[in-house]
Amino acid sequence: MAVVTILNEDKTLKSHEEIVPALAHHGIDYDRWTPAHPVPDNAPAEAILNAYAREIEALKQRGGYVTADVIDVNPATPGLADMLAKFNREHWHDEDEVRFIIAGHGLFHIHANSGAVLSIEVEAGDLIRVPRGTLHWFNLCTDRRIRAIRLFQDTAGWTPHYTESRVDENFLPVCFGLAHLSMTS
Ligand SMILES: [Fe+2]
Repeated sequence: MAVVTILNEDKTLKSHEEIVPALAHHGIDYDRWTPAHPVPDNAPAEAILNAYAREIEALKQRGGYVTADVIDVNPATPGLADMLAKFNREHWHDEDEVRFIIAGHGLFHIHANSGAVLSIEVEAGDLIRVPRGTLHWFNLCTDRRIRAIRLFQDTAGWTPHYTESRVDENFLPVCFGLAHLSMTS
C-alpha cells in the first residue's frame, strides 16, 4: 500500500479508502492490482505483462495507451545517478506517467495546481497515473530499486520539461515505509 503525505497539511494517509479520493482530488489515479496468477517479481518481463494483461488492457482502453513495458532500476544499473538526476527536479511530460510497481520503492512528489505538494511512496502492487502536464518529481528510496510496468500513449511524449522552479529543493525525499522497516528490524 502506498503512503501519501500532504506536505503542506502535514497529513499522512495509509489506507486505500483515504488515498484514492485524496489523490483523485488532485487528478492522480491510484489503484491496487493483483495478478491473474502468482508471478515472482523477478520473472521475465513477458511473464509480468501476461500476469497483469487484463488490467493493462483495461487501462489502455481507458487512457489511450498503446504500449506497455517493464523497467528495471537497481543499484547496479549503469548510469543510475545520471538517470535519477533527470527526474528528481520538478518537471512535466506531454504524456501521462503511468507506473505499476512490481518490486522496490519509489517516491513521487506532486505539485498540484492548488499549490499543495503531496508525496506518494509506492511499493509492489501500487498503480499510479500522473496525468500529462502535472508538475512532479521522482526519487528512489534507500533500496534504490524499482521494477515497474510502464504504459505509454506515445513514447515521444516522455521527455521531461523542467520548470526550474527549484520547489523540489524544499522537500526532502523521505520514504516512510523503509524508514519504518529499518527502525523495527
Ligand atoms: Fe516524470
